[in-house]
Amino acid sequence: MTDTTSNKMWGGRFAAGPDAIMEAINASISFDQRMAAQDIAGSRAHAAMLAARNIISNSDAEAIREGLLTVLSEIEGGTFNYSTALEDIHMNVEARLKEIIGEPAGRLHTGRSRNDQVATDFKLWVRDQFDAAETGLLALIKALLGQAEAGADWVMPGFTHLQTAQPVTWGHHMMAYVEMFGRDLSRMRDARARMNESPLGAAALAGTSFPIDREMTAQALGFDRPSANSLDAVSDRDFALEFLSAASICAMHLSRFAEELVIWSSAQFRFVTLSDRFSTGSSIMPQKKNPDAAELIRAKIGRIMGANVALMMVMKGLPLAYSKDMQEDKEQVFDAADNLMLALAAMEGMVRDMSANRDSLAAAAGSGFSTATDLADWLVRVLGLPFRDAHHVTGSLVALAEKQGCDLPDLTLEQMKSAHGGITADVFDVLGVENSVNSRMSYGGTAPEQVRKQVSRWKGLVG
Ligand code: ARG
Repeated sequence: MTDTTSNKMWGGRFAAGPDAIMEAINASISFDQRMAAQDIAGSRAHAAMLAARNIISNSDAEAIREGLLTVLSEIEGGTFNYSTALEDIHMNVEARLKEIIGEPAGRLHTGRSRNDQVATDFKLWVRDQFDAAETGLLALIKALLGQAEAGADWVMPGFTHLQTAQPVTWGHHMMAYVEMFGRDLSRMRDARARMNESPLGAAALAGTSFPIDREMTAQALGFDRPSANSLDAVSDRDFALEFLSAASICAMHLSRFAEELVIWSSAQFRFVTLSDRFSTGSSIMPQKKNPDAAELIRAKIGRIMGANVALMMVMKGLPLAYSKDMQEDKEQVFDAADNLMLALAAMEGMVRDMSANRDSLAAAAGSGFSTATDLADWLVRVLGLPFRDAHHVTGSLVALAEKQGCDLPDLTLEQMKSAHGGITADVFDVLGVENSVNSRMSYGGTAPEQVRKQVSRWKGLVG
């Protein structure tokens, strides 16, 4: 039985239309409509080029241009009727163009295929996400610089194994994240520069016999150049994978910081107070103020890294060139991008709003024998002990203090001397946390002076 509803775009070869299930698995319009603006921009560039090369007439190109603008305004105005039977955004736009301008619409697809079309649209969309990530990262870095500058000399405990290690400054801790997000920023910029080549004109896979001008369309769409191999152009999705992997690393950094904020805002730590604007309450426990934004940011790495793995798996076994598997690239990237931007914005807001509790930080900085290394260093510097011996002497003093239930600066000089006869009262100078952080003047160290240098270097970089 002949089904007269066979597809308008390729019905010539088909006697019957698709099964409803075929249509359901095949269609991407429910999600690729997010690339409508990119699709229309690509078509406009292509039509203008076809006319410039006398492949279509100027009047057809003008009709196409006008018609595409009408389609775009229908889409933006929410009056466009998307059809699942028309499968994807490319065919939805072209079919509507045909309804509006008639015959010239059929000339738009000359020297082009949906394969280079979708690669172009998707690249344009992902390129915007690199830019959005850059904007989000810059805002977050600036918020962190604000915190670092305010608290360049506020002491707090530095941890290893989440055990008190040595005192550091609040500014230094904030600047550690500035370095991480700064590398995320440079990863985004590197990948954006690498991906900015135009697939348009690669056609289905082999290029085209029409005398097209790929430089012209590349330039019109803001690409640096046309991609140099048509097979690669239509089947490459590594630009999306680079976005996802840079996004995953960035989400991992966000997650680590979020975890610290969750710990720091707890009643047991009280290192920071998160603003009401970025906290939630409990429906049963009236005292609660929960760091939900931080927890959700901590969790976002799951879906973002998941998208990265999913697309890698989609691509890994595909022979050249295009296969329909590649239609599975978009939803993952859309979701990951949306969530990365949201997480960056939420983190920026939290950082801007949060206040460090200077007293709690200082109290914690001085506990847990945090200046034991300073004591050992003093024994090396002043008494000339080998570091290993100094380590041993200091260890015995820590054990003594622990037994007495006090901290290192609370030991008497007599008690100090019991561990090593050469110790003098000067030793107490290095046991204070302020002295400890001030002494760490090595490049990249935690001394406030070093932190301030890094803050001004970064301000110069990010404005
Ligand atoms: N909807 C398709 C996608 O997202 C467009 C390309 C279709 N190309 C093809 N030869 N069937 O990948």
